[in-house]
Amino acid sequence: MLFSRFPRVQLATLPTPLQHLPRYGALANHPKVYIKRDDFMALGMGGNKLRHLEFWLGAALQQGADVIIACGRPESNQCRLTAAAAAKLGLKCILLHNTEKPDFLQGNILLSHLMGAQSIYLGEIDEDARQEQALALMESLKSEGHNPYLIGSDVPLGCLGYVNAALELHQQALAQNIDLRHVVIVGAMGGTAAGFLYGTALLGHPFHVHVISVEYPKEKIWSILERNFNNISSLLELTPNAKLAEVATVHAEYLGPGYAQPTPEAIQTVRDLAQTEGILLENVYTSKTVWGMRDLVARGIISPQEATCVIHTGGGPALFAQAELYQPR
Ligand SMILES: Cc1ncc(COP(=O)(O)O)c(C=O)c1O
Repeated sequence: MLFSRFPRVQLATLPTPLQHLPRYGALANHPKVYIKRDDFMALGMGGNKLRHLEFWLGAALQQGADVIIACGRPESNQCRLTAAAAAKLGLKCILLHNTEKPDFLQGNILLSHLMGAQSIYLGEIDEDARQEQALALMESLKSEGHNPYLIGSDVPLGCLGYVNAALELHQQALAQNIDLRHVVIVGAMGGTAAGFLYGTALLGHPFHVHVISVEYPKEKIWSILERNFNNISSLLELTPNAKLAEVATVHAEYLGPGYAQPTPEAIQTVRDLAQTEGILLENVYTSKTVWGMRDLVARGIISPQEATCVIHTGGGPALFAQAELYQPR
């Protein structure tokens, strides 16, 4: 009902599993650690962006789009999942990468190529310049009679996917008799976390949400979350039952040297979760998030008495592009 005004295509495999992590929990000194497996979906190797894409591509189809454009670096999960969704829907997909053409394709870019996307390499330019190129490509496609849709041009619409994820997790926890008190989620550009926070606020704040920043310092991610939170509210025309500041705490202390630059603790966390639970992370988004959860327990911010769930947002294929970190010595 909440989302019925918005066209949506089914891409994600929902609900994603909610699993207990007894062996990783023992390592983290917390017996009630859970993971929500948004990495575990049937399309294109899954991940958080499929939830966003359900709404973006719903809008694209409603507008009669025939070409889908996405932008990102070659390691972008969003590009890979856009390629997967476009393949499934029979739409042409063009990816704009702000990098030189790689000599050898691996990880996400290899998969995007396999799924039929056309990659255009723009050289080492910044995101603003890349956006200008995307808009120029849109104009040129239109002049040829195409109807292109640019992924990510409507941020709050994509966030609805994670509003739904919060409602979904709440239902699952109730059904499994878990008194869930903390959720730990990643924040990069912040759309995923903002949607989740808004959904949590709609529910009246049954759990506290810890956002682990992996891209921006604290003030910047907070202002992004605030803006997105308010924009989702306007889009849904609803006032949530809790304020952002009541629902969320942002932690930027796990960012390390910067975006996509792994810390020693995060690198070790990939091994720890793999070797205790057989679950694979990567070093841009999810290893810092799981390490953050463990450290919040160690610092007493999350009590081991209180059930805690970390959201696994996917990104597994990026691990193959990080192979040098894990070669046997
Ligand atoms: C695997 C994965 N996790 C988390 C994120 C972060 O999402 P957001 O940019 O919405 O904060 C991304 C973003 O691309 C991602 O690919």
